[in-house]
Formats: sequence, structure tokens, C-alpha cells
Amino acid sequence: MAKKEQQRLRICLVSSEIAPLAKTGGLADVSSALATYLHEAGHDVRVLVPRYARIDRAGLDIVPVAGLTDLSLRVGAQQIDFAIDQTTLPGTDMPLYLLRCAQLYGRDSIYTQDADEHVRFIVLSRAALEMCQQMGFAPDIMSCHDWQTALLPLYLQTTYAWDRLFAATQSVLTIHNIGYQGMFPAYVLDQLGLQGAEHHLHQDDLKDGVVNFLKTGVLYANLITTVSPTYAREILGDDYGMGLNDLLRQRVQSVVGILNGVDYREWDPATDKFLPSNYSPDDMSGKRVCKERLLAEFGLHNDLDRPLIGIVSRLVHQKGIDLIGEVVPRLLGSHDFSLAVLGNGEHRYEALFEEMQRRFPGRVCYYRGYNNELAHWIEAGSDMFLMPSRYEPSGLNQMYSLKYGTVPIVRETGGLADSVQQIDAASGTGTGIVFRDYNEKGLEWAIDRALTLYRDKALWRRVIANGMAQNFSWQQQGAIYVELFRKLSAQR
Ligand code: ADP
Ligand code: GLC
Repeated sequence: MAKKEQQRLRICLVSSEIAPLAKTGGLADVSSALATYLHEAGHDVRVLVPRYARIDRAGLDIVPVAGLTDLSLRVGAQQIDFAIDQTTLPGTDMPLYLLRCAQLYGRDSIYTQDADEHVRFIVLSRAALEMCQQMGFAPDIMSCHDWQTALLPLYLQTTYAWDRLFAATQSVLTIHNIGYQGMFPAYVLDQLGLQGAEHHLHQDDLKDGVVNFLKTGVLYANLITTVSPTYAREILGDDYGMGLNDLLRQRVQSVVGILNGVDYREWDPATDKFLPSNYSPDDMSGKRVCKERLLAEFGLHNDLDRPLIGIVSRLVHQKGIDLIGEVVPRLLGSHDFSLAVLGNGEHRYEALFEEMQRRFPGRVCYYRGYNNELAHWIEAGSDMFLMPSRYEPSGLNQMYSLKYGTVPIVRETGGLADSVQQIDAASGTGTGIVFRDYNEKGLEWAIDRALTLYRDKALWRRVIANGMAQNFSWQQQGAIYVELFRKLSAQR
């Protein structure tokens, strides 16, 4: 017992998203599952997320935390009043702290284009430290995620450095996506609350009149993690580093890639509460039921033997949607398959799928929007799952697909490369179709190959079984975080 106590880490995890309460993408799944893993492994985890308006509608039991009801911060000329509330993360017994400040978070969406977007996340970052102070909670690890909380490492070394409470605190910045850096004009300087320590910001940026939140985290975090080993290597180079590669290379000893885990409590076809029928490797009959229901729901021809390709995605540049637009309509003309698409995002990509649906009625269906239940249906009811990403830090959907016996077609990048193995027809090994080059030929080859392999029923069954036997659990991936956290705090 004493030993266990001694090993217990105090971790403050601060994120702009948490599933199932506030989600736009994988960041929410990861914050939620990683925090829950750490909590269940016996660590003292305090998670802080903003109390967005949508959380208020989630029917949670939310109570104010005594002594933390009347806090404030100065942001430039403004005084921002806030409070800390507490609830429990649904489906767990983990306490979850909510930053209440209606002025900043009582808006329709999680992210906005509003002029004070930076203030929303400056306040989240600083409020996390103020919360620790008020609770007398001395974190061993401050776990920050993406640009929204990437100023925290610098705050620990400047504005809050006076406080002995944080004397042993080590900051870890997890980069989920280097494509979003949080860059703002230099007039935000006065609002950062750095109290004369502004010179710590990147000098060239200051000269150019910008403040880059993620870059600041890369400069000052004690450890930088990202969400797959391949992406950790990729971002050190020009092609994927998005301007941060030189700085990352200077810190290469402190950059680690850990592939994301899957929350199998949410994503397992044997127990999935959303599916019309459950199934497992021992009895796959339910998958056919899921396909039939999905085809009906989506108004696709009820041909159970025709291969169905699924897509669930944010429709943004990163995800390779333009390549789909160049290749898939042509293939729909020459090959026999259907397509079920769920996603929203940039208008041009939404229009592209709408057009495909018009051209191929009964074979293409596009559901525009965000719908968690449908995402589960597509994972279960499709035969293949398409993810031709330009870059993909980790990606979760391809790992969900493997578990659902839905063969992923992916580009060889980031976490896609780390989680899907090329099928070798001769030996019956492998879990998916992997193409290397981001171009029409690459994607065309991959889809054509998937459709060819699909016809070899025995091989296809074997590939499905290989995929379903993969294990990307948080038990495994979370343990890697803990080991790193321990090493880091032992370095003090
Ligand atoms: P990213 O975080 O880059 O969007 P990931 O593959 O890591 O990519 O995670 C995406 C997560 O968001 C998955 O859980 C996926 O099911 C979900 N998702 C994406 N778009 C939608 C949508 N339109 N409706 C429901 N879920 C979605
Ligand atoms: C990002 C990445 C995605 C990753 C997710 C969670 O949004 O695009 O690849 O899986 O974060 O880490």
C-alpha cells in the first residue's frame, strides 16, 4: 500500500475537448480515455475543461466547488470572472472540473472565429493553475493538449514560477495536430498575462508581429509527446513540421511518439450499444445485419454482396478529401461498390459529396453533419473504411475499423502507418490496404486492390480476423504515458 501511495502521480490534465461532452474530433476521445485510464490506474487526476453551453444541455449533475466560486483574472484591461464546477465524466467515476465563465464559453460551438478566441484559451490555461493553487494541488505533471493549452509550460516558468506549489511540476505538451498552432497578432501580447516576461516568446515571431501558442509550448514544455511514433519522426522534417520542424529538431531528445489507444468500452462491436446487432470474431452474423440496416438507413441499394466503403471524417484539407473527389467518381463508373459518408467541414468538400450522391443515387449516400451513433453504424456496416489522409498524427477511425472487421484503406503516414499492416495475399497476413504516395494513382491502386481482394472470400475473412485481433487498448498505451511521466518527475 505504502509503495502504491508513493508511486501515485498527481496529474492535472487540461484540454479544450472531452468526450462525450465536448467533441469535434479525436482530441476529445483521447483526453477522455487517457484521463480515465490514469484515474483508474490509481493516480490523482484533475481534469479541467471549459463549461461550454452544450455541456449544460447534457443533463449532468454539476455542482460548484466550495471556495472556487468567485475567482478572477486580469486579461489586458479586462477582468474575467470565473468559477470552477465539478461533475463526473459520464460512464466513469472520475471527477471532472468545469471552468465556468459564460462570457467566454456560453457560445454555440466549441471553437469560434470570434475576436477573443485567444482569450478563451489563455483563460483556460491560467485557470488550471489558479485551480491547483486554490485546491493546494501540487501536480507532478501538467498535461497540456494542442495549441489551446500550449502556453501553460511558459506560465509555469514565468507568471506562476513564484509559487512553491509548482516547484516540482513538469509540463508535458501533447501535439495532436501540428496543423493548428493558435497564431494571433501581436496585439494579444498585453492579454497573455506574462507580466514583463514577454521576451520569452519566439523573437522572430515578435518581430513579425505574431504570437504562436503551439510554438511557445514546443519551446518550454519539459516533454513533448505526439500521438504516433511515425508522426513524431515526420514533424521533424519540412514536409510535415509546418514551420515548427527546426525547433522540434533542436529538442529531439524530448520528443516522443505514443500511438493513441482505443476506448474499447465505446468502440467494440460485441458490446456497442448503438448497433442494431452486436457481433464478435466468433459470430460475425451481426455484421451482416448492421450492413443491411445501414444500407436501408442510407437509402442505398439493398445488395449485401456489393462492397460498401465507409467514410467518417472532419471534411478538411488534412483528410485527403480532394483526392477522393478526383478518384472515387471515376472508380464508381468502372467498379462495383457503394459509398456511405458521414462528415462535415469545409463547404467545397461537402459540395463534392453532395454532387457524388446526385450522380450515383442508390450507390452513394452522404450524411452532412456530426452524428456519433451513425459513426458507429458506418464502422460496423461497411466492408472497408477509407482514410487517404495527407497527414494523420494518429487517427482513431482506422483502429475502430480494425475492431469492427471493416478493412481500412489508408495512406502510409503518421498513425495510419503505425496501426495498419499491408495485406499479403500469399501468406494471408496484414490488416488493410496501405498506399504510399498522395496522388491519384496511389489511391486508385488502393481502392482497386481492396475491391479485388474482397472477392477472395477466404482471404478476406482472414484479413478481417487479423484486424479484429489487434489490440490498441489504453491499458497498453496509457502505461507508456505513465512510465514517461514517472521518469520525468524522477528527473527533478
Ligand atoms: P481527427 O481528430 O483528426 O478528426 P481521428 O480519427 O483521431 O481524427 O478522430 C475522429 C473522431 O471524431 C472519431 O471518433 C470519429 O468517429 C469522430 N467523428 C469525426 N467526424 C464525425 C462526424 N461527422 N460524426 C460523428 N463522429 C465523427
Ligand atoms: C488530431 C489528429 C488525429 C488524432 C487526434 C487525437 O485531431 O488529426 O490524427 O487521432 O488528434 O490525438
